[in-house]
Amino acid sequence: MTIAFIGGGNMARSLIGGLLARGWRTEQIVVADPIPATLESLRTELGVRVTDQNVTAVRDADIVVLAVKPQEMQRAADGIRNAIAARRPLLISVAAGIRASDIQRWLPGVPIVRSMPNRPALQGCGMTGLYATADVSAERRAQAEQILGAVGATLWLEREQHIDIVTAVSASGPAYFFLLIEMLEHAGVAQGLTPEVSRKLAIETAYGAGAMAHAASETPAVLREQVTSKGGTTAAALQVLEERGIRDAFDAAVAAATRRAAQLADEFGADRL
Ligand SMILES: NC(=O)c1ccc[n+]([C@@H]2O[C@H](COP(=O)([O-])OP(=O)(O)OC[C@H]3O[C@@H](n4cnc5c(N)ncnc54)[C@H](OP(=O)(O)O)[C@@H]3O)[C@@H](O)[C@H]2O)c1
Repeated sequence: MTIAFIGGGNMARSLIGGLLARGWRTEQIVVADPIPATLESLRTELGVRVTDQNVTAVRDADIVVLAVKPQEMQRAADGIRNAIAARRPLLISVAAGIRASDIQRWLPGVPIVRSMPNRPALQGCGMTGLYATADVSAERRAQAEQILGAVGATLWLEREQHIDIVTAVSASGPAYFFLLIEMLEHAGVAQGLTPEVSRKLAIETAYGAGAMAHAASETPAVLREQVTSKGGTTAAALQVLEERGIRDAFDAAVAAATRRAAQLADEFGADRL
């Protein structure tokens, strides 16, 4: 099994690091990128094969991962169309906002898995939504899951529109948690703490709460109830948040992000070449 990465940036590097840690061999992986310094660091730091020619990378590949910026996707697809036509490798896109149906238009007859990872994938603790076109076999689904699973958790979506919601929830999601940390820090400072102390409290609390939610079999709602004693401090704070409409604000925020994801997919999917 050989895998070619088109684009050797942050996401490709993280995926390659994850794959090597899980036992893939360096000779199974080839990366194409136009930047010589990128190629040199991938070759010396990770030991994988590198080339500045996308066509060379995909020629013998069983799996091709398209890891270029969304606005570069059509150009990258166009450049490898002939080279992959005979072999028909599994194509995995990690590009935000590029629909599988658009990639299929650019690369007819190629099975496609569209994935939507998030930024924590670069730390190996990502969350990736996956969607496969109808011609992707169970074996190839498992391969895609293994590749994205090298940088965190994965889950399959049956409908491609749901990728827009994944974008709004887990791909944009880290920013919501950063905002929460920021606001908690600010609130602690307003009560008299220094920013450094308050930030430390907020970050470690977010980390601990995330770890608890990750490990628990209970739902987050049950966990919240467990840490909220009647008439206590937490209850006093949550009552204010509820009264001020935090749930409605979140619903509206995620709805806005979902709509924006669909709009961006319309824009990115329009033919540029
Ligand atoms: N980073 C994240 O947190 C994240 C999260 C979710 C999804 N993604 C998706 O992952 C994809 C890659 O993101 P990234 O953060 O890894 O971007 P990146 O660091 O900019 O990497 C992209 C690399 O591809 C190269 N490239 C551009 N056009 C190419 C072409 N035609 N053929 C081969 N290589 C080409 C770029 O070179 P130049 O710099 O010369 O253009 C760059 O080195 C994006 O589509 C993004 O939506 C990223």
